[in-house]
Amino acid sequence: MQLIGPFTQILPLTGMPLKGALKDEQLQVITSGGLLVENGLIRAVGDFEQLRKEYPAAEIKETEGDNVLLPGFVDCHTHICFAGSRAKDYAMRIQGKTYLEIAKAGGGIWDSVTQTRMADEETLTQLLLKRIERHLSEGVTTIEVKSGYGLSVEQELKQLRAIKAASSKTNASIIATCLAAHMVPKDFNGNQTEYLMHVLNDLLPVVKKENLASRVDIFIEESAFDVEGATIYLNKAKQMGFDVTVHADQFTTGGSRAAVDTGAVSADHLEASGDAEIKLLANSNTVAVTLPGASLGLGMQYAPARRLLDAGASLAIASDWNPGSAPMGDLLMQAAVMSAAEKLNTSEVFAGLTYRAATALNLTDRGTLAPGKRADIQAYPVNDYREILYQQGKLKPMIL
Ligand code: NIG
Ligand code: FE
Repeated sequence: MQLIGPFTQILPLTGMPLKGALKDEQLQVITSGGLLVENGLIRAVGDFEQLRKEYPAAEIKETEGDNVLLPGFVDCHTHICFAGSRAKDYAMRIQGKTYLEIAKAGGGIWDSVTQTRMADEETLTQLLLKRIERHLSEGVTTIEVKSGYGLSVEQELKQLRAIKAASSKTNASIIATCLAAHMVPKDFNGNQTEYLMHVLNDLLPVVKKENLASRVDIFIEESAFDVEGATIYLNKAKQMGFDVTVHADQFTTGGSRAAVDTGAVSADHLEASGDAEIKLLANSNTVAVTLPGASLGLGMQYAPARRLLDAGASLAIASDWNPGSAPMGDLLMQAAVMSAAEKLNTSEVFAGLTYRAATALNLTDRGTLAPGKRADIQAYPVNDYREILYQQGKLKPMIL
């Protein structure tokens, strides 16, 4: 048993609702706090001196200077298992070239598929581990990682096995998602039904058997899969026992409808969502996930985060870190920058980076500092929690 502290402030993020707008007054702040940890789990949170008296047998891990303790961040949407670079795409995009022009010049998702297919599993594992360790050093203790740059049975399995291998070599908690339905691979000549049936029959049973992922994702968009085909696919994946999630409403609407209809744990992107989609999500248990990194990378509008919260939706914030649309990967900076534009307050941002993001991954064992939860923690070297967003992602936490 270990007692960690004292902390200038502890923000346990407990007692706050899963859905809807929040107020900073709802944030509980424990001053001169301590955290009692046993076997990787939180045993108690409270006043440091009081805990010291109550648990005299606890080994003391004393902290120094000012520090604000938060739950580790949960990044519920990344594509960081890839090889190569898309700097060429980015240079074209900031010259004003369109999506189609970039794809015609050999860019886009297919370029990352080609580069990722060329890397072996060990190389991919090492590349992934580097990105995981960077994320961990920035306070992200749980990281979802998608496949989706393989797009064949063999290549998707290679990606998922690399994710599993990396997961056993890091202190971060890694959640794998099968995104074989990222786009119709060129080998299938645009036949999405045939490809989705192939994935359902030949890939997902192996993913299940080898326990490589418990989640399935699909990109619903004009350039990828349509609502009808995706709905059939997601329902079948659910019947096989997978949780489902959707890349929805990024450029055009439709994805959020499929997500809600299939009981998806989350609908991610939502930059194109309007009133109807906002209402739909607010009346569902599907977590709306905003990906400011993709808006910054593509130079397009943010998802309507403020309106989603005001309508009553649960809103998580994730990085979408990927080689194409979101190469930055700095979750806290993205959340801070987006919050200024969308007018999300501190409690809404912290909730979106912690317990609401955990819910998007169907995880109930993390995201708040409460007895029984995982002791995934980070402390910022400041004396007031408001400094964290104020410094717009430039503060680096200690991972304790
Ligand atoms: O979430 N929208 C689709 N997929 C990714 C982009 C992946 C890529 O461009 O490589 C996204 O933004
Ligand atoms: Fe994505």
